[in-house]
Amino acid sequence: MDGAKGIGIVASNGNHILDYKGVNRINHPLPPMIFIPTTAGTSADVSQFAIINDSENQVKIAVVSKIIIPDVALIDPETTLTMDNYLTACTGMDALVHAMEAYVSIARSPLTDTHALEAVRILSSHLRDVIARPDDLAIREQIMFGSLEAGLAFSNALLGNVHAMAHSLGGLLDLPHGECNSLLLEHVMNYNFSTSEERYAAIARSCGLETERRTPGEIRNLLFGYIRNLRYDLGIKKSLSDCGVKTTDIPLLAAKAYEDACLITNPRKSNRRDLETIYEEAY
Ligand SMILES: [Fe+2]
Repeated sequence: MDGAKGIGIVASNGNHILDYKGVNRINHPLPPMIFIPTTAGTSADVSQFAIINDSENQVKIAVVSKIIIPDVALIDPETTLTMDNYLTACTGMDALVHAMEAYVSIARSPLTDTHALEAVRILSSHLRDVIARPDDLAIREQIMFGSLEAGLAFSNALLGNVHAMAHSLGGLLDLPHGECNSLLLEHVMNYNFSTSEERYAAIARSCGLETERRTPGEIRNLLFGYIRNLRYDLGIKKSLSDCGVKTTDIPLLAAKAYEDACLITNPRKSNRRDLETIYEEAY
């Protein structure tokens, strides 16, 4: 779907797709776009994002513009039945990251909050089920709907450090996007927590966790453990070192993530050294 967006951008605007990296760089409308997602996670079918792999520079770049929101999205969970469990897990975690990053984004609004928290609730309560019963269309429908809610949230509220860092990581090592997000989510949450304690407490409650009479530190630990257990239960048990990242790669990963548009809306500002520290914790 992002490939189609890229072709549409260049067909209507000329130049090279990498010239449109960043926010609001596209001037002319694209040809009509009708999208049919076959995974439940990216929400490219409703989003203003296109992620393009700049293979020469080994980084995934973000093109962000309201002009590239598709005209029509035909969303049918039956198309997701042929995904294997690992792809289901990675794309499902991607959707969960979309919801969580949108909810703490500095560009959030009451409308995106509603979609984001509902997405957290639906996804957190059905992701284990879809791995246990991948042929159950009713569960697939819930995941697809959770992904759509997350997409509506993040296309308007934008994202944060998880995505900025995942684009850098996925570009360097050619890893699945959802896998990269999954390995970073708990660590970015940990980094952001102090700036958005109330927000993360609301996320924790939407995951079904009890936050009453708990200190912020306890809620942070609870949510950290919850995210890690969830991804482990879904079969995403790796660390960055398991994926082939070397400690000497970390400065380059951080430098590339520092250039990513998703960093702008993260609730806690980061310099390159902060990003290196988060990569080190996920290592
Ligand atoms: Fe994503």
